[in-house]
Amino acid sequence: MKNPIGVFDSGIGGLTVVKQLKKIIPDEHLVYFGDTARIPYGTRSKNLIKQYALEDARFLLQYDIKMLVVACNTASSTALPYLQERLDIPVIGVVKPGAEASAKVTQNKKIGVIGTAATINSASYPEQIKKNISGVQVFNQACPLLVSLVEEGWLDTEVTRLTLLTYLDKMIKQEIDTLILGCTHYPLLRHTIQKIVGAHVRLIDSGEETARAVKKMLREKKMLNLSGRERDDKFIVSDNAQKFKEIGSTFLGYDIDHVEQVDFEEFLQTTVIKDV
Ligand code: DGL
Repeated sequence: MKNPIGVFDSGIGGLTVVKQLKKIIPDEHLVYFGDTARIPYGTRSKNLIKQYALEDARFLLQYDIKMLVVACNTASSTALPYLQERLDIPVIGVVKPGAEASAKVTQNKKIGVIGTAATINSASYPEQIKKNISGVQVFNQACPLLVSLVEEGWLDTEVTRLTLLTYLDKMIKQEIDTLILGCTHYPLLRHTIQKIVGAHVRLIDSGEETARAVKKMLREKKMLNLSGRERDDKFIVSDNAQKFKEIGSTFLGYDIDHVEQVDFEEFLQTTVIKDV
């Protein structure tokens, strides 16, 4: 099936998920929407995140997508069933694949989860982890400062190390052996986080696990693109295309040739997005 896969995020961070998708299913054509006009989602209320997620999804439906990947951990944590109930294409989020992977690798059943405030408050990760493993202890920590540090390019500075140490100290003392990077931006901090938690702690990149889950789902539903890669991926944002282009390569690992900026307000005004 040649139709593209739609991927959305609150902004640029979802490119870490795109990077994994390109590694694992390189022939698939992607249409990415980054809602850079309304980022961050991680500090918003549940209702607003659900509304934004549905609007983003409706925007991508215009591209005749065969499935939707919710790359944003915050939106996945808050709005996944909400989207699945309202769309008639498969919708995959990043929480379940990340949670399942952590349950498989932990030896001592002590798992840490870091993410935005909304992700942590939703308790989506602990809920999913407990569906996969019994007697597990999950230690949660919201890390709201990390998104800005990553977007600033401060991946291994003194300030970043100190911030991480402050956030992670409690779970290190609890002796976690597995840590879920439950936010699109955190894979960029992987090496710094690994140094802080120690080499014995397994880091789980939810984006990577999600890319594997997407491939599995496409294969099972016989929806893989088998005709080779024909088109370039599309990157669309609701604001600041230039900045997206400039720092996108840090997240993606390669340069983006073209970023389209849409008038999302106009899209919202001309489209009836029914909350049924
Ligand atoms: N993309 C968001 C996430 O993965 C982080 C940025 C935001 O707060 O919108 O949770």
